[in-house]
Amino acid sequence: MTDSRGNFSSRLGFILAAAGSAVGLGNIWRFPYLAGQNGGAAFLFIYLIFIFLLCYPVMVGELAIGRAANSDAFGSYSKLGGKRWGYLGLFGVLAGILVLSFYNVVAGWAFGYFVEIAFGSLLNEKDFGSFYFNYVNDIRDNFWFSVAFMTITSWVVSRGVQKGVEAANKIMMPALYILLLSLIVYSLTLPNAMSGVKFYLVPDLSEIKIQTVFDGLRQAFFSLGLGMGTMITYGSYVSKKQNLISSAAVISVADTMVAFLSGLMIFPLVFSQSMSPSEGPPLVFMVLPKVFHEMGPILGKFVGGSFFLLLCFAALTSTISLLEVPTAYLVDQKKIKREYAVWGLALIIFIVGLPSMLSQGLIPTLNNLPFYRGKDALTFVSDTCDIMLTIGGCLMCVFISFQWKISNMNQELYQGSTIRANSLISKYINFTIRFVCPLLLAFLSILIVIDKFIGLSNL
Ligand code: TRP
Repeated sequence: MTDSRGNFSSRLGFILAAAGSAVGLGNIWRFPYLAGQNGGAAFLFIYLIFIFLLCYPVMVGELAIGRAANSDAFGSYSKLGGKRWGYLGLFGVLAGILVLSFYNVVAGWAFGYFVEIAFGSLLNEKDFGSFYFNYVNDIRDNFWFSVAFMTITSWVVSRGVQKGVEAANKIMMPALYILLLSLIVYSLTLPNAMSGVKFYLVPDLSEIKIQTVFDGLRQAFFSLGLGMGTMITYGSYVSKKQNLISSAAVISVADTMVAFLSGLMIFPLVFSQSMSPSEGPPLVFMVLPKVFHEMGPILGKFVGGSFFLLLCFAALTSTISLLEVPTAYLVDQKKIKREYAVWGLALIIFIVGLPSMLSQGLIPTLNNLPFYRGKDALTFVSDTCDIMLTIGGCLMCVFISFQWKISNMNQELYQGSTIRANSLISKYINFTIRFVCPLLLAFLSILIVIDKFIGLSNL
């Protein structure tokens, strides 16, 4: 595949880029706090089941579609299933725009925290709770840090698949693992670290409630970045010689490892300062800075700075993939030059993200949406995205089963692989894509709606 669309230069380049898409704020920010709220190990257990049962097959399906059609999300669905199905790809492109719009806001906070800890005086604060609230409502800082983040993302994507997306991931993904492992080694040596590990790793199965299953399912799907055609787009840059079945396994494992290891880094830190592991979303922004503060000015700056740098790397490898999806659409379908497509999209996405940015208290109505049980606009957008992704993923399975046909998917998958129809893995993928994944995803979209408008605990 040496066409002008671009392609990954090697299997490693592809795997790192796809793992980079998957590894993100979701792994380091959302996974640990969900695990903290849902009884630690019990949550991990549920999460792993869904990665295996749902996410892995969906990822294989997306990659197969992309590589078979060699086009962006819209182009791939239209090519394999006609124009009507193309709209499913377009729906994914829109979902990507929406995900990036709020994701970039949170990435901006992470970037701001990194700069303020490593080079500023954030750790001298006394009350990190109020600091966080002031921070996310400081429009000047927020504005510029998210502009900066979007600019870096756009610069990488504008350089193209090989020189931009692949090159950036080849540097950042190994750096991310090194940072993560170093932080784990450090946090495990702290006093009381083992109670954190125990909380995290010894499952208390009585903790498993419908909320745990729901959170695990939703988190697993979001974490692998499925349902909107990221893997279709990345799959379209992969050569026919690559083995998609094993690559998807490596990508899923790499992503799960980072989520798992983040917990292993964070809980010993939290327990070493006798703090609560179940703080929810503020865990990373309110609890951890206090931990770094307690370490003293120099060590705190160093460990805290490394932690937030890690968070920025993870976020950046994901924002790159999120921007690549609509970019590929404009480049392939509208024949717009990559640079123009990227910068134009960045501007639009940034504007779409403004309500999320202003929703943390600055504009009271956005902070307290009357039609959304008083939740803020960022939560609303993020929930809407989750629903769009689950619907997108569910319809993708329907597309493979009824339109494109499982046999065509397999034909694509068998290229570059020695796996054939009689192998267990192939049977497993066919079965899950046909029955398990669409049902789970339909179930999940309904649960998200119920959770948001009624509350699962009221069931
Ligand atoms: N998976 C990333 C995370 O866990 C976010 C992400 C990147 C994503 N690309 C995506 C989410 C596509 C949904 C769809 O943070």
